Amino acid sequence: ASVKLGSEQHVPDLFQHHMEKEIREQPMILADSLGRHGLAPDLASMLGSEAMRWLPSIDAVVLIGSGSSYNAAQTARYWLESMAGLPTTVEHASEYRFRELAMPGNALVIAISQSGETADTLASLAAAQKHGAAHTLALSNRAHSSLMRLAELGYCTEAGQEIGVTSTKTFTAQLLALYRLALGLARERGRLGAAELASLENDLAQLPQSVQQVLELEPQLAQWTHRLAERPLVLCTARHLLYPIAVEGAQKLQEVAYLHAEGYPGGELKHGPLALVDRDLPVLACLPWNRHAERLLVNLREVRARDGELFILSDAALAPGERFNAIRMPTALRELNPILYAVALQLLAYRAGLHRGTEIDAPRNLAKAIVDE
Ligand code: G6P
Repeated sequence: ASVKLGSEQHVPDLFQHHMEKEIREQPMILADSLGRHGLAPDLASMLGSEAMRWLPSIDAVVLIGSGSSYNAAQTARYWLESMAGLPTTVEHASEYRFRELAMPGNALVIAISQSGETADTLASLAAAQKHGAAHTLALSNRAHSSLMRLAELGYCTEAGQEIGVTSTKTFTAQLLALYRLALGLARERGRLGAAELASLENDLAQLPQSVQQVLELEPQLAQWTHRLAERPLVLCTARHLLYPIAVEGAQKLQEVAYLHAEGYPGGELKHGPLALVDRDLPVLACLPWNRHAERLLVNLREVRARDGELFILSDAALAPGERFNAIRMPTALRELNPILYAVALQLLAYRAGLHRGTEIDAPRNLAKAIVDE
C-alpha cells in the first residue's frame, strides 16, 4: 500500500496549488532553521551534547534515501568529502536493504526521509544496524516518524507539513541540514580555519534572501516552459555539486509535468545521451561560474554542434542567441548553490505542470510516501 496525502486538502488563498505555496515558503523556512540553530554549525545544538562524545571521531559516512531524499544525499556527499574529509557513500534504499553489506569501521549511517515512513529506508536503516553500523542518524521532516524512533539520533528538518506529493521545501531543508552537518564535522575535525568558517557562515546568512531573489525569476522561467513542455525528452545536466540537482530537476519535471526528463553529469553526455541530440532535444544546464564551468561548457558545445537547443541557468552573464537560451541566476553562494538552483528548477517544473494541466499536487501513479513493498 502507499499513502496518498491530501490533494483534496484546501489550498490556501493566494496560491493555486500547495506546491506553489511550499516553493514560496522556502526563504522563511530556511531563515527559521538558521535562527533556531545559529549560523555557526553547532553540532551539539543540532544533535545533542551526548553525540559530541563520538561524532568528531567517526571515520566514514553512509547516506541512504529514496527519490528526492537520495538526491539530497548525493549532494551532501560532495560536502562531506570536501569540507569534512570523510569517505562517504550514497545508497538507494531500495537496493541497500537487500545487499550483503560490508560496513565500514566506525561509520555514521544517515537515513534520509522526508516522511520518515518509506519502507525501503526503514529496512535499510535496520539492515545497517544489523550489520554493525557504529552509529545511526535519521533525518526526517516528521519528529515522531518511525525512522526517527529507529535511529540512535534524530534530526528534524522542521519545514512544516508538506502536502504536495513532490518534495520542495523539505528537499531544501534536507540540504541545509546536511550542509550544516558537514560544516560542523569539518570544524570539529579541525579542517576549517577561522577566516574560511566566517566566509561560509556569511554565505549561510545570505541564503534566505538569495532564495527569495531566485523566486523572482519565475516570469523568466515561465517563458521556457512552453518551449520545453512539448519536447519528447529534456536532458538535465550539470557537474560536481550541481549534478545531483540536475537529477532532482529531471525528477521534478517527470513528477509534476509528466515530461520525459533525465539527469546526467555533464561528462557522461558523450557516453550515450549525445546520440539522442537533434533539433528537437533541449538540454537544460545548471552552470554556476566556478572551476567546473569550463568543463561543462565543453560538454554543452558538443550539444550545440549537433543542433541541440541549450537552456542554461548561470550566474554568469551569458549572451543568448539562436537556440541558446540563458537565465541569469541573481546571485551565487558557492557551496550553497545547490539550494538556489534547486528552487529555480522547482519553479520551472511547477510552471511546466501548469502549462500541461497536470495534477500538480497529486501526480498520477505517485504517492507521498511508499510505506510497504
Ligand atoms: C515517494 C515520493 C517522492 C519522494 C520519495 C521518498 O516516491 O513520491 O517524491 O522523494 O517517496 O520519500 P521520503 O519520505 O522517504 O523522503
